[in-house]
Amino acid sequence: MKVVVLSSQKGGAGKSTLAINLAAQCASIGGNKSVILDLDPQASCRVWAAQRAQTLRAHAISGASQSSPSHIRGLKVVAGDRDHLRSMLQTHKADGATHVFIDLPPQNKKWFRQVFQLADLILLPVRPGFFDMVSGFDTWQLVEDRPLRWVVNAAFDDVSQPDSVARVVQGELNRTMKCLDTLISNAAEWVMSVGAGLSVPEYAPGSLAAQQLRSLWTEVDSFPEIVVKHRYG
Ligand SMILES: Nc1ncnc2c1ncn2[C@@H]1O[C@H](COP(=O)(O)OP(=O)(O)OP(=O)(O)O)[C@@H](O)[C@H]1O
Ligand SMILES: [Mg+2]
Repeated sequence: MKVVVLSSQKGGAGKSTLAINLAAQCASIGGNKSVILDLDPQASCRVWAAQRAQTLRAHAISGASQSSPSHIRGLKVVAGDRDHLRSMLQTHKADGATHVFIDLPPQNKKWFRQVFQLADLILLPVRPGFFDMVSGFDTWQLVEDRPLRWVVNAAFDDVSQPDSVARVVQGELNRTMKCLDTLISNAAEWVMSVGAGLSVPEYAPGSLAAQQLRSLWTEVDSFPEIVVKHRYG
């Protein structure tokens, strides 16, 4: 079972949005079962899950003749308990989960160190801006021997252009900590899908946002599981 943690001191960087969409993208692939452990008191992922349950229920009531808005099975969102994280991971593993995504609050607390120790990969979403970049370095201090990657999110210009701000930021970040290659553009689908209780590919399958999510997922899933004896306690 792989554990991916989403963290950033800066609020609104895209942690919850990416956690939801990566977990859904993961679960859309046959054989995968993903769980989001929501460790943020704001409970964004749980709010999305409640909306999702309502959307799927409304669809079921509206009649079997319409095709389901989602074929995604095996996606769970639960409240995380930071004092019992290891045993929670054990339980989900025993339950057949293949991937766990941990959504952290927008802070940089000492206890994050213990969460990072349980991770196979730590993702640091960052909006393309100077203050945003600076805030990431504090998180870096808390990470010991786990892979950590920036993800440039909500790029406001055309990322296909070599001189786009997102690419410039990516280049700068790569000089110290590594960035994933995929750049995520600022797009309405990331916002609207959450409101509908759906993932981006469910909401707008042919969109650039869906394409970027697939690319992001491929990169994320290429990181191996770190096999450390008794990692979950
Ligand atoms: N790529 C994107 N394009 C457009 N809007 C986005 C994108 N990513 C995130 N958003 C929007 O930005 C806002 C913040 O995103 P999100 O809540 O995922 O960030 P967060 O890092 O989890 O925030 P917090 O630190 O408060 O937990 C939300 O309204 C979300 O819909
Ligand atoms: Mg959040």
